[in-house]
Amino acid sequence: MIYFDNAATTFPKPDTVYEAVMECMKNYAANPGRGSYDMAVRASKKVMETREEIAKLFNVSNLFNIIFTSSATEGLNMGIKGILKRGDHVITTAMEHNSVLRPINYLRKKSVKSSIVGADKYGFVSLKNIEKQIRVNTKMIVVNHVSNVTGSIQDIERIGEIARRYGVIFMVDASQSAGVINIDVNKCNIDVMAFSGHKGLLGPQGTGVLYIREGLEVSEYKSGGTGSNSYSMHQPKFLPDKFESGTLNTPGIAGLYAGVRFIKEIGMDNIRKHELELTEALLKELKKRDYIILYGREDMEDRSAVVSLNVDGVDSSDTAAMLNSKGIGVRNGYHCAPLVHEVIGTKNRGTVRVSPGYFNTLEEIERLVKALDEIHGGITQNE
Ligand code: ALA
Repeated sequence: MIYFDNAATTFPKPDTVYEAVMECMKNYAANPGRGSYDMAVRASKKVMETREEIAKLFNVSNLFNIIFTSSATEGLNMGIKGILKRGDHVITTAMEHNSVLRPINYLRKKSVKSSIVGADKYGFVSLKNIEKQIRVNTKMIVVNHVSNVTGSIQDIERIGEIARRYGVIFMVDASQSAGVINIDVNKCNIDVMAFSGHKGLLGPQGTGVLYIREGLEVSEYKSGGTGSNSYSMHQPKFLPDKFESGTLNTPGIAGLYAGVRFIKEIGMDNIRKHELELTEALLKELKKRDYIILYGREDMEDRSAVVSLNVDGVDSSDTAAMLNSKGIGVRNGYHCAPLVHEVIGTKNRGTVRVSPGYFNTLEEIERLVKALDEIHGGITQNE
């Protein structure tokens, strides 16, 4: 199988990730933060080391502001539901994933007001339009850094400046960018940021991270055992324990550690460079074919390695099924981002999404293009 669904989850992972998970499972998967015997201490140490590696990656000075979650979705729910209260106003964008839109819609029933800022047809949100929506009760701006449908990159540094100017909390969904694009939470004035561990960070599924700026008040999301203050029936108020009730996914976190180390060894810029080379090669070929409809920017400016397309006259699910029968895995449909399809004009059909990753090759891109030609050829022959 040629795997082109790295925006959903990266595959394969570096060998060191598989090895780290297995090594933990077999030798030290005790409960971290719970016991003082050697195995439990080793598990705790691995969790702390991973926290530290991730903190450094995003220029977070206090590693305790890094909270482990099960996914980006969980982190986004924790931030959005933990910050917004009755009467607050939140600004978000049409480029968001349902993991932002659904929690906000849930809060609308609890008297939280929201504004959704549109985007241009390439998937870019105007800074002016964000600023125009700010009201006296605006508490937070939530922005998707990189679209999982168009690959468009929003200018989070300048959005962060706007948020700072108006004293509004700035939350970033970095699901598609963490591990691929360098993000400095201080430079971008980010107060809260959620991302998955199993996409650009190359860790296993079931891992995610929530960053919360020092001192920011966020209500607890779930309550329970943390291993700390064990005699108290009340949830600890300090980070990360306030948000980490329940046994952590230690083998997953050990794999995430190996994923982050791999990125540091190869270099995030080199990983991104390779992914963009593949994307550029793909776009170059697709643009030559008049039977291909492309969505999002057709050049390489402000874009990531996500390409949405359709084969003219063919349903996106049929194209994906035909690619599958040729041994190529892509995602089709709406990609859990319903409003994006109003922006790019695919409300009735969705898109076929190709998302190359670090382990894909130029030869695989050529095979994909050939497969699309064959699909188109087969369709026109039957007409
Ligand atoms: N959000 C992931 C995707 O875009 C799962 O496929």
